[in-house]
Amino acid sequence: MQTCESELSAWLAGAFAKAFPDAGIPAPRVLPATDAKFGDFQCNDAMGLAKILHKPPRTIAEAALAAAPLPEFVEKAEIAGPGFINISVSPAWTAERIEEMAASPSLGIPQSGEGKCVVMDYSSPNAAKQMHIGHIRSTVIGNAIDRLYRALGYRVVADNHLGDWGTQFGILIKGYRECLSPAERESAAVADLERAYVESSARAKTDEEWKNACRAELVKLQQGDPENLALWKRFIDVSIAEFTRIYDLLGVKFDMWRGESHYNDRLPGVIEELQKAGLAEESEGALIVRFEEEKLPVAIVRKSDGGYNYTTTDIACAEARTEEFAPDRIVYVTDDRQQLHFKQLFAICARLGMKTKLVHVPFGLMSFQGKAISTREGNLIKLDELLAEAERRALAVIRGENAQGEPSEAELRLARQIGFGAVKYTDLSHDPATAIDFDWDKALALEGNSGPYLQYAHARVCSLIDRYSAAEGADPRAAACGIPPAVSTPAEKALALKMLQFPAAVARAADICKPSVLADYLFGLSQLYSSFYQSSPVLKSEPAVRDARIALCAAFGKILAKGLELLGIEAPERI
Ligand code: ARG
Repeated sequence: MQTCESELSAWLAGAFAKAFPDAGIPAPRVLPATDAKFGDFQCNDAMGLAKILHKPPRTIAEAALAAAPLPEFVEKAEIAGPGFINISVSPAWTAERIEEMAASPSLGIPQSGEGKCVVMDYSSPNAAKQMHIGHIRSTVIGNAIDRLYRALGYRVVADNHLGDWGTQFGILIKGYRECLSPAERESAAVADLERAYVESSARAKTDEEWKNACRAELVKLQQGDPENLALWKRFIDVSIAEFTRIYDLLGVKFDMWRGESHYNDRLPGVIEELQKAGLAEESEGALIVRFEEEKLPVAIVRKSDGGYNYTTTDIACAEARTEEFAPDRIVYVTDDRQQLHFKQLFAICARLGMKTKLVHVPFGLMSFQGKAISTREGNLIKLDELLAEAERRALAVIRGENAQGEPSEAELRLARQIGFGAVKYTDLSHDPATAIDFDWDKALALEGNSGPYLQYAHARVCSLIDRYSAAEGADPRAAACGIPPAVSTPAEKALALKMLQFPAAVARAADICKPSVLADYLFGLSQLYSSFYQSSPVLKSEPAVRDARIALCAAFGKILAKGLELLGIEAPERI
């Protein structure tokens, strides 16, 4: 399915080419009009062409419009101001486009990713630590981008790059042996492992002997000591089981869990490669890479004790992914404190000749009702607790504060859908790069730009459709229902034109890795729906108008449901 913009652009390209045959004018850019009084779409290309064609922009626009007849689907094309072309499309054509879009399984989303691959590196917590509120952003933003790419037809390899190697395992093994009771060692719950780590690492700071013992455990692990290796393996297994439980709650799935340790064998080769290419040099016993051109601080790729680090591992990992998947892009979603790391990594990969596009999506920290959350002290809100609280609060919203008796199964399910939806939407509706302050009242508000507002809008349209179907015995959502949607009144047309922008919003959100583009779009769409609904009776209208309006409502419901799905937010049909 072509987008409206591309169809209009094709017509204008023909018009420009006819008016200026030898100028080699690139395909004109057509955009939705910024204001309905300028029509439905606009093209401002005449402005830029003035310099190339040495003519006033208005003359250029006039010549183009005079050169080719208006296609049937264009009702009006007018030149405004210095040379803007304002375009109004015909209602019949708009209605047809909506019908076509609503009938297609992809809802018109272009399959521009067919034959291409994206590796998504997100969530990526460190093993043997509980996931806390700091991990929610990487998980939720990463998963939304993952879903967007899949919707565009990309092959997506979602890889949870677990922090499963490094000096912390020496500290942890020592802590496990000395700080846990036999019963705790037996169950090895992640919370206990975390406590063992915290205690052991505190002890290592003051007790030299303890510190050396930790170091010895690490060396044994690195040398493949069977006992330490088995312990390490166990820590990883229980961590994965624990993380999976939370991912299941959130509806997040990974294709693979290749932790940092997966690349251990490649690390010496990376160093050799860097040295051969003349990219690394010795400095005070360590091996470093300089970034004079990029004006960045040096990166260490081998420590003075001979150990490799985060940078070395990420170089090996990018190479391995490139070899195995030949991806068009690798997208890393982490907090913005890792910006320097990724700048250095991408610069090194470029110097090594890697062609894959590497993208870092940095996100700002999430504070909580005005309080910063620190990652160093143990006062972090666990992700588990956050999700449980979301459920609890959403349940109160659904049942009212003074509800009596036990909630039903259905209420509990709904509370989870709304509570998690509220948390995810708060995160996704902001540009990832900004810091956000999480506020329960705002997140769960039924009015305004919130997850529950969109979920309610969806449930309301579903119930309207159900009432129609019950009375008329026909489902307006069925692909072959054959009712052309209403696009005559200004409210209908505004809603319809906004619906047609859905595919472009999805493509744009994926392209710039900002799910907030789609969230903004869905909120704007729902607002237009709500003004349409307030001004336009549906079920009470005479049959022809009623049927046409319900068809428009049905298409809106589908787009909203799909949009929410792409954000990883459930859209219950009944609330
Ligand atoms: N484990 C890291 C952390 O918790 C994030 C890893 C991100 N991915 C990567 N390839 N470096 O900060």
